[in-house]
Amino acid sequence: MTHFDSDHVDDDGERWDEPDVKRCQLRYEDRADTDGADWTRPMDRALELAARGPGSSRCNPNPRVGCVIVSDGTVVGEGYHHGAGTVHAEVEALRDAGDAARGATAVVTLEPCNHTGRTGPCTEALIAAGVKRVVIAQRDPNPQASGGVQRLQDAGVEVVTGVRSDDALLLNTDYTFDMEHSRPRVVWKIASTLDGYVAAADGTSKWITSEQTRKQTHEMRTGYGAIVVGTGTVLADDPHLISHDPGAGQEYDGPLRVVVGTRELPSGLRVLDDIAPTLVMPTHDPAAVLTALHDRGIHRVLLEGGPTLAAAFLAADLVDEIDAYVAPVLLGAGKPAVGPFGAMTLAQARRFHRLGSGDAGPDVQIIATRRVEPWMVAARRVKDRRATRTSGQDHGNIHDLGNTRRRGTGVHRNC
Ligand SMILES: NC(=O)c1ccc[n+]([C@@H]2O[C@H](COP(=O)([O-])OP(=O)(O)OC[C@H]3O[C@@H](n4cnc5c(N)ncnc54)[C@H](OP(=O)(O)O)[C@@H]3O)[C@@H](O)[C@H]2O)c1
Repeated sequence: MTHFDSDHVDDDGERWDEPDVKRCQLRYEDRADTDGADWTRPMDRALELAARGPGSSRCNPNPRVGCVIVSDGTVVGEGYHHGAGTVHAEVEALRDAGDAARGATAVVTLEPCNHTGRTGPCTEALIAAGVKRVVIAQRDPNPQASGGVQRLQDAGVEVVTGVRSDDALLLNTDYTFDMEHSRPRVVWKIASTLDGYVAAADGTSKWITSEQTRKQTHEMRTGYGAIVVGTGTVLADDPHLISHDPGAGQEYDGPLRVVVGTRELPSGLRVLDDIAPTLVMPTHDPAAVLTALHDRGIHRVLLEGGPTLAAAFLAADLVDEIDAYVAPVLLGAGKPAVGPFGAMTLAQARRFHRLGSGDAGPDVQIIATRRVEPWMVAARRVKDRRATRTSGQDHGNIHDLGNTRRRGTGVHRNC
């Protein structure tokens, strides 16, 4: 199986010099402190806690967040966000700390929210608990929730930002992308022959790639908020588009099924069964599709449509990543992987950058990105830092938490 390989990314994106590639402008700094204290160690613990939370999906649009309350070098409270509708990490950690939070430092992976959503603002909870300092890894890219730093400072709380910001970004790449672009990140999956066809001239398309590839691509659906296809694919192949069978009486929590196109869909199609929800969108506008999914809190979309829909997304420059499976099979004729999208000369080609490649049984997988995203650069820096640490050059924290005494009963899993 192929994984994202940050070796393909330079720190400053210099290797990615094609004219259509936006230079990566990182807004995050990896260290900042006001009193010389090094908060990286408690932040590492907060990051560990955050990683226990659910990733963003259709059922959980929220970011992963962890929080540690530190008093006199001792961890007195811990918490993390367990998913949409549950209390935020800061509140869980404050409850864990109880009275010990007064005068303590809250170390949190994401800027505390400053708005009332399904739960109250975390800024107010921190202020009410009497914490004297808040240490933050990543500023909240959500315009509705941001403003936490300002609110804390206005209330006289010291704020330290940028501690382990790369690591925090890596926890919430899809959330961050969506908040910054007001649309989900789009990954286009293709399974094609070596000569670039996705169906034969007579329309048959089962199967071009191997069983192993199909199993792998089926499993990867779970990481997405939605699977998007056009009516052409639904009418030709009658795909089910589910990530897993929820089982009798269980609610399906996999990706939303989305069918784009104006044609009537006959009842009885598998995508219209009641196992999972399906959104039918009678439009030809990819941007409108993504806006509707963004409004539903979906941060990452798997585009599994045919050549027509893929061309529409490419024409609008709305394909962020390609996950291609190429089988050692030739057809010589049939449906090409993508239809015309306006490139009439080589200079108009959509260029992508290879992020990784590898075997998928007898097939080859290639992952390519349209742009160098901040999280790709962050991944590279984190990898380099860990390599440095392994070689023994990164040690020494002002706050020695080695003799940390934990009080309380640990994180609350039932929130
Ligand atoms: N191997 C693979 O990876 C793979 C994946 C998917 C599909 N396929 C193959 O692809 C074939 C189907 O191709 P396809 O191109 O018809 O499928 P498609 O791209 O999934 O669906 C095409 C339909 O999407 C709608 N549509 C949405 N936005 C559009 C836009 N901007 N412009 C034009 N139409 C838009 C139109 O429906 P309305 O006419 O209803 O408005 C159009 O007919 C099948 O043979 C299938 O097996 C292969």
